[in-house]
Amino acid sequence: MNSLNRKDLLDIKSLSSDEIMLICDTAKYFKDVFTRDVKSVPVLRGKTVCTLFYEPSTRTRLSFEMAAKLLSANTINVPVTTSSVVKGESLIDTVRTLEAMKADYIVMRHGASLAPHFLSKNIKASVINGGDGYHSHPTQALLDTYSILEKRGSLKGLHIGIIGDIKHSRVARSDIIAFTKLGAKVTLCGPSTLLPDEFRQYGVEITYDLDKLLPELDVINMLRIQRERQKGSLFPSIREYNLLYSLTEERFAKCKPEIIVMHPGPMNRGIELDDVVADCPNSIINEQVTNGVAVRMAIFYLLAGGTPLSDADTEGN
Ligand code: CP
Repeated sequence: MNSLNRKDLLDIKSLSSDEIMLICDTAKYFKDVFTRDVKSVPVLRGKTVCTLFYEPSTRTRLSFEMAAKLLSANTINVPVTTSSVVKGESLIDTVRTLEAMKADYIVMRHGASLAPHFLSKNIKASVINGGDGYHSHPTQALLDTYSILEKRGSLKGLHIGIIGDIKHSRVARSDIIAFTKLGAKVTLCGPSTLLPDEFRQYGVEITYDLDKLLPELDVINMLRIQRERQKGSLFPSIREYNLLYSLTEERFAKCKPEIIVMHPGPMNRGIELDDVVADCPNSIINEQVTNGVAVRMAIFYLLAGGTPLSDADTEGN
């Protein structure tokens, strides 16, 4: 695998397992760059990266911006709520305006599934999907994959549980595809109202009994309850959800001692998981954020035509 050979990064489905590994192997070198004293490299010197987020974000937008700056790009953020979008400007006109200003990369989050796919067909700039509707969040899945690889070396044979609001989660959809492509067994668990049976088409197991599942897992990924996306009440009460599906301290005691605890963020502490679990040594939630910068640096590098790196490329730079 010599390069990504594509203009855009839109979803996980269109990446082969070799391409996922290329991104993760490349991210390892950029993590070295990112964690040393002199952090910047000239990979995107003279290029412009624009972030265009129609939905709220802390981690994804900031880490794309930081990744672009560390690669020496010029960065622009479109503040959607105070831009001409509120006067009714269409997505395509907003993006053509950015193209007229010579943006080379557009990182977009949008509430409509497939919005980045539509955009990518209509503009010359590279489009990177920062999350579209319920559909896909490819860079989150790549950073989640990288984070597990960093701890375990391989996903082959690992049993990964994804717990909670699966129905509304683009992270779940992308993680499932990435993890299974790399040979992990994935089990989904949550209330039946948040875990439709149609997820079986992804080649995963489904269970509604978290207590039974916990002792089997090597990795547990706790998803956020997306109350803003839920139409009507999909579980009786937070207390009931807590009783059945929170990773409480008591439940955590049933897990393997070496289990990896993940959460894509933002967390609802006390709902998806207890503070003591979120902050325990098994938790890699903050490392996921750090790894997100390295993975996004790798994605920019590879979309720019970069080829696989070796130790010689980064030593002494
Ligand atoms: N994980 C994630 O997408 O977080 P943000 O919504 O803060 O970007």
